[in-house]
Amino acid sequence: MTSEADLKVIRRAYARQIAAAVGVSEPRVEDAFASVKREDFLGPGPWPIFRFGAAYRPTPSADPVYLYTDDLVGLIPERRINNGQPQLHAHLIDRALPRQGEHVVHIGTGTGYYTAILAHMAGPSGRVTGIEFEPELAAKARANFSGWPNVTIVEGDGAAVPFDPADVIYVNAGATRPADYWLDRLNDGGRMILPLTTDKAFGDISRKPHEMMNQGAVFRIERRGDDFFAKPVSAVAIYPCTGARDEASERALAEALAKGRLNEVTRLYRRGDIPAEDCWLRAPGWSLGYR
Ligand SMILES: C[S@@+](CC[C@H](N)C(=O)[O-])C[C@H]1O[C@@H](n2cnc3c(N)ncnc32)[C@H](O)[C@@H]1O
Repeated sequence: MTSEADLKVIRRAYARQIAAAVGVSEPRVEDAFASVKREDFLGPGPWPIFRFGAAYRPTPSADPVYLYTDDLVGLIPERRINNGQPQLHAHLIDRALPRQGEHVVHIGTGTGYYTAILAHMAGPSGRVTGIEFEPELAAKARANFSGWPNVTIVEGDGAAVPFDPADVIYVNAGATRPADYWLDRLNDGGRMILPLTTDKAFGDISRKPHEMMNQGAVFRIERRGDDFFAKPVSAVAIYPCTGARDEASERALAEALAKGRLNEVTRLYRRGDIPAEDCWLRAPGWSLGYR
């Protein structure tokens, strides 16, 4: 078993490599990945590692050294609910960049690894509200954070559960549209990380990653007054978000992804009557536009 002293060095190397791979702008992101112990949030090993195109493969032993790679780890493998990919999260957390003292809401907390990284960034003067739909995972997350005064775990649908106004809303499941409540509760200057996915973004395990990745995009939404500025920041394939999916938005999203011009999106509107030529995506009650 790798000693804790060695794991500390390995965690720093992992954090540095992940941060470098995605061009993280802030040293605080690397520090958070170097400080939080992934093994504290994944239960006892060996752990099931997700392999695209194959089944999960267990780590050779319960040595935490196997967790410091850029791999997804099964939380409920039979339903393909995974602890997400470290590089993707390093990139997205860098885009949201929680500051000390801020309130972060994490939708789809799982068992809490990335919630802990967000809490590290918000610091003792800030706090994180983690919302998880699956009772089994919410219970594990609550136990994992029993000694953390700045983290509260709530079991329920993150699109409907009430929460205090937030500086960062970090959504970790695939929606087809932003929940109105998220936009209402985002503070002025607040940032939301929003994965939007079609129904094909979470297909069967044998599909190639690129076939699923072109079915989803993550947006960084920043609120300034009543305006919501939008920027695509990543492709994504991810488990669906209960409560934030509807058929009309899914259709509009699939059409928009198929036509291209994703990188020209600059704004999110809470209206569906923006002229069609100004929209990348237009759906009932909301749209993503070019200006
Ligand atoms: C891709 S997993 C990520 C889990 C966690 N962030 C991690 O990386 O370890 C997505 C999670 O979102 C949860 N989820 C889906 N819809 C949700 C909702 N409406 N509210 C809260 N959690 C939700 C799922 O149960 C699942 O745990």
